[in-house]
Amino acid sequence: NKVVLAYSGGLDTSVIAKWLEETYRCEVVTFTADLGQGEEVEPARAKAEALGIKEIFIEDLREEFTRDFVFPMFRANTIYEGEYLLGTSIARPLIAKRLVEIANETGADAISHGATGKGNDQVRFELGAYALKPGIQVIAPWREWDLNSRESLLAYCEKHNIVVEKKKGKSPYSMDANLLHISYEGGILEDPWAEAEEDMWRWSVSPEQAPDQSTYIELSYQKGDIVAIDDQPMTPATVLAYLNKVGGDNGIGRLDIVENRYVGMKSRGCYETPGGTIMLKAHRAIESITLDREVAHLKDELMPRYAKLIYNGYWWSPEREMLQQMIDQSQLPVNGKVRLKLYKGNVTVVGRQSDNSLFDENIATFEDDAGAYDQADAAGFIKLNALRLKIAANKGRKLL
Ligand code: ARG
Ligand code: SIN
Repeated sequence: NKVVLAYSGGLDTSVIAKWLEETYRCEVVTFTADLGQGEEVEPARAKAEALGIKEIFIEDLREEFTRDFVFPMFRANTIYEGEYLLGTSIARPLIAKRLVEIANETGADAISHGATGKGNDQVRFELGAYALKPGIQVIAPWREWDLNSRESLLAYCEKHNIVVEKKKGKSPYSMDANLLHISYEGGILEDPWAEAEEDMWRWSVSPEQAPDQSTYIELSYQKGDIVAIDDQPMTPATVLAYLNKVGGDNGIGRLDIVENRYVGMKSRGCYETPGGTIMLKAHRAIESITLDREVAHLKDELMPRYAKLIYNGYWWSPEREMLQQMIDQSQLPVNGKVRLKLYKGNVTVVGRQSDNSLFDENIATFEDDAGAYDQADAAGFIKLNALRLKIAANKGRKLL
């Protein structure tokens, strides 16, 4: 009899609010979050009020999103299918958590969302909600109703006096944005051969248009998280916003891929993740001097599993928590500074330093190491490693 709806204030979720009341005779509670999508969230209040909603939740979750979801994910250098930085995937578990918490606060027994029945987002919202509140009911209107075109949605608005603001220059793409990224799907992108139009991209200049001068930045790390830029201490959300700006200005972070959705289909998407692209590169650089080799390699082996689990909607799962503990433990020595050069779409590491550095100049040097490393030791090391290769060759095993 009461349902909490993830409400953007847009056409689709406004129709959903009315449709829920009509179809389920229930009271609708709306929840709108500022995750850094770059659009005001306050207007959603007036729109919800106009729909007759009594309980309206509007929240700024930018810090929580970055601190408790984005940063933990970047400690693992996470990328899905070698390319995707999971900008949408990582926001869904937070929305699921708040939907459930608001249901508890308001005495609602159901949640609802505007994701279609064809995508990943429905899976992420619902797996999260069931994990956190097993008795919750989920209503996914796109899987139930017959309003499957823009025309039928607009006709529904007409019939129910829902005011639709005519935005000019309405984007032809299905988009999702938060502090980590902005995504584009659908429209001409449904042809994987068709190049995205230049004016689709909203967060970055093209590398061709980027300045001819490079930009240097220094990132300071504590336990694997960025805590300052150019020696200015910053909160997580401020860090990410800053890196998005300087990255976007330098043409960094554009991506055009075909990915495998959990529900089985391939999907073409374009993404802008300027700050995330910088963070990934820089984090690997600080780890390169502070992590033990085997720890680093083990992290790299587990990373694709961790990425897949986030993509598929299992943030709220025992296996994610298990991996997270390991990842977080590995980050204790990941402290120090990375110096980067940003130039026409490229992020280049030019320096790294740490009090926890395992890099030993005395040992690594090409100059005289004053006995720090005995080159003669290498002969036995190589011979023992070659032993099985020699035995096999002696027994006549052929390679090639
Ligand atoms: N394909 C990406 C993902 O699954 C982006 C999804 C975008 N979602 C959206 N509602 N437009 O993470
Ligand atoms: C949707 O289907 O609602 C968006 C795309 C996705 O969830 O993968």
